Amino acid sequence: MISIKSIFQEILKHKKVLLLANTVAIISTLVVLPVALLLPLLIDELILGKGGEITSIIDNFFNIGEPMYYILIVLFITMGLKAIGLVFSLLHIRLFTKISKEVTYTIRKRLLNHLQVVSMREYDLLGSGAVASKIITDVETIDKFVASSVGEVVVELLTLMGVSIVLLWLNWQLALVILVLNPVTMFIMLRTFKNVAKMKKKENQSIETFQNTLTESLELYNQIRVQNREKYFLNTIDQQAKEIRDRSYLFGLKSEIALEFSRLLIFYSHDIFKALGIFMVLIGMLTIGKMLAIFSYAWVLMRPVDKLMNFIHLYFNAKASIERLNEILALEKEPHYLAQIDPFEEKKSASIVLKDVSFSYDGKHQVLSHLSLAIKEGEKVAIVGETGSGKSTLAQILIGLYPIDEGEIFYNDIEVKKIGYEKIRDHVGFVLQAPLMFNNTLRFNLTLGREYADEVIYEALKVAQLFEFVDGLEQKLETIVGKNGTKLSGGQRQRLSIARVLLDNPKVMIFDESTSSLDDATEKKLLDALELYVKDKTVITIAHRASSILRADRVIKL
Ligand SMILES: Nc1ncnc2c1ncn2[C@@H]1O[C@H](COP(=O)(O)OP(=O)(O)OP(=O)(O)O)[C@@H](O)[C@H]1O
Ligand SMILES: [Mg+2]
Repeated sequence: MISIKSIFQEILKHKKVLLLANTVAIISTLVVLPVALLLPLLIDELILGKGGEITSIIDNFFNIGEPMYYILIVLFITMGLKAIGLVFSLLHIRLFTKISKEVTYTIRKRLLNHLQVVSMREYDLLGSGAVASKIITDVETIDKFVASSVGEVVVELLTLMGVSIVLLWLNWQLALVILVLNPVTMFIMLRTFKNVAKMKKKENQSIETFQNTLTESLELYNQIRVQNREKYFLNTIDQQAKEIRDRSYLFGLKSEIALEFSRLLIFYSHDIFKALGIFMVLIGMLTIGKMLAIFSYAWVLMRPVDKLMNFIHLYFNAKASIERLNEILALEKEPHYLAQIDPFEEKKSASIVLKDVSFSYDGKHQVLSHLSLAIKEGEKVAIVGETGSGKSTLAQILIGLYPIDEGEIFYNDIEVKKIGYEKIRDHVGFVLQAPLMFNNTLRFNLTLGREYADEVIYEALKVAQLFEFVDGLEQKLETIVGKNGTKLSGGQRQRLSIARVLLDNPKVMIFDESTSSLDDATEKKLLDALELYVKDKTVITIAHRASSILRADRVIKL
């Protein structure tokens, strides 16, 4: 689970850069610290004739005595110091931005890694838009917090300390006033920010709902058009957009009010402090130059106080986002078995044995109940059974998409727990009943990012009876198939998904209603070509039509 603590542990992993960044930050703070002091003190020395430290230091080097030159020299020094401070502060920004982006990247990666192993049961219930929204919006919220914490908090705390020391040195009574007033105002703000953070959570929730409906509606737009339901769906999306508008408005407004209100409090405390300063000059406890210097420092003090307040604000927002991200990490994982034995090595196919297997999707309704069966190496079996009898389910548990509740499954007499599902999916090819396509090229849909020579791809296409179709296309393998393969016919999609599995050259093949959309002649050609291809492999064919069943050695009825 992610927590503020784990985020800081992640930040601390970058010790070297962090150390460097903070050293640079200290230098930039120290360099700029005297700037607010120099010109105001010159007022005392040149106009009121009090003190004389700065002029005497300059005299050591130049020996001029002309007030005009003192002013110019001090002006150049302050400008120079500011410029040097800026260089260091830019360097610091560069270093900490790197850390903060690295940390948010790690969080995103952790979420993605978890999604990769989330159990299919949980996956079935996930809205892709909702997950996307969390990974984008909430991680962004954390990003702001991390940037503020590594980038600003240390520097600002340092500035706060440095300025406090100078202030105490200049006049401790007046310094105490401002140093007490600031924390008091900050404490008042804490409570307000907590409330505002709740609104941030609500805003992100509405973004999530919106993104979920939007993604799903766009995915299924065909279906919506067919049923003439555009108005209804657009209306729903519009309602959700309105909710985002209202909640963002509330959050934006309240957080601005909270921030402005806190700034006002700080301005007030500063005005009280300035009034006190003038009073102290009046009764002779302070010189005008020192008063002006103290005023400038009080001004310098504003920034760290403001930034620290902002940090607290971001902290509460980040906490709300962390809660939402942990919802992803709380999703149950798929059981992971270490690959101990490879039963497929040096084999052309595999035997499959199910012993007393029971399975239910929801823990209540058993889809498979005490099923036992044995398929020999290289055997071709057909599985038939009425619709809803669990044929696709059986195929899915064979490759471990869903873990079984009871019983055991063996490949070449090795229990699946000793093989690991990764290995199994490498060698067991499964043509899904309803294959899905990416809105990408034919090549990508066939290879899913793996590298194959064109000849190999065309070979698979030939077996799948798709070669002539692809060869006739102007852009051949580079043709885009459209969203969910809409530019292809149902039968072309089926054959594409067969070719996709053939490319892997698996040792066991499972066809789930893979030729249901083909005409009899094409189906026959495909089965003939396949027969040769799968000669040595173990094949499970699920089909309703007798004609679709590859010359099976055995028919199993579920
Ligand atoms: N992902 C799922 N989550 C929950 N229940 C499911 C899921 N998939 C299928 N089921 C249920 O399991 C039962 C068996 O479904 P399955 O898809 O295995 O049937 P089938 O024999 O392949 O049917 P068909 O011939 O129509 O393809 C059905 O009652 C179905 O409602
Ligand atoms: Mg099915």
